[in-house]
Amino acid sequence: MNIIKFPYEMQAYCRELRQKRASIGFVPTMGFLHEGHLSLVRRAKKENDTVIVSIFVNPAQFGPDEDLERYPRNFEKDISLLKSEGVELVFHPKASDMYPEGYATFIDVEQVTNRLCGLSRPSHFKGVATIVAKLFNIVGQCRSYFGQKDYQQTVVVKKMVRDLHLDVEVVVCPTVREADGLAISSRNSYLQPDERTAATVLIKALRAGEAEALRLRPCGKVEAAKVTDAMQSVLENELMAEVEYVEAADPDTLERLKQLNGKAILALAVRIGRTRLIDNLIMEI
Ligand code: PAF
Repeated sequence: MNIIKFPYEMQAYCRELRQKRASIGFVPTMGFLHEGHLSLVRRAKKENDTVIVSIFVNPAQFGPDEDLERYPRNFEKDISLLKSEGVELVFHPKASDMYPEGYATFIDVEQVTNRLCGLSRPSHFKGVATIVAKLFNIVGQCRSYFGQKDYQQTVVVKKMVRDLHLDVEVVVCPTVREADGLAISSRNSYLQPDERTAATVLIKALRAGEAEALRLRPCGKVEAAKVTDAMQSVLENELMAEVEYVEAADPDTLERLKQLNGKAILALAVRIGRTRLIDNLIMEI
């Protein structure tokens, strides 16, 4: 396996791959890899000649009071997992090489970033869009793989790719879940045992919302408020859950829906203790 640290070296390597006509599958990550990431790697392997994984905890996407310092890291384990998946190339730059002294260029995707998670994390998606654009510029033409768990991130990245004419195909892969339904996330490692049990309330609430929508469907009119109320009442029964938002939204614009008619995303953000968790379901009415 080749581990490249410098952006210019990575760019040269990817240029050579393209000259050899090798298709590139690119999986951007912040490391502390789990089954969710590995599912992206496996899909990328199936669909491309070469798979590149980046491991970079991006400071620009963390707010001042967020968990940048304590974000979990285990580079050795990440490398061994990627080796067992047959990944040939890992990009692992330093923050000082991605954001050198005097760095001043950021990407601000408007509208879709002002909703859902964007309301409580105002600079988060600017940081995500900036690093993803930089990584796409370094890797060049590729297919890039993202998990549906971070649904808003996938909408932001797709919009940026379209708006900036980037030569990247964005592939969104299903959320990988634990046996009890909890969406797998690096941040689950923060949860104490009682919090881990309480965290299943996210998927329970989403399923209750989906069930309520399907129950209302034969009546003709599915009011979004009734669906989100069903989700809220599940969340209220879990004393450890502090709700940030519960929404039924348009899957493309992320605008709040009044009625569910066609495709919708049910999405929520909930704090369990100090840990902020997100999850979503896409449904069709
Ligand atoms: O989803 C993540 O892990 C990050 O937001 C990403 C896409 C790697 C950008 O830092």
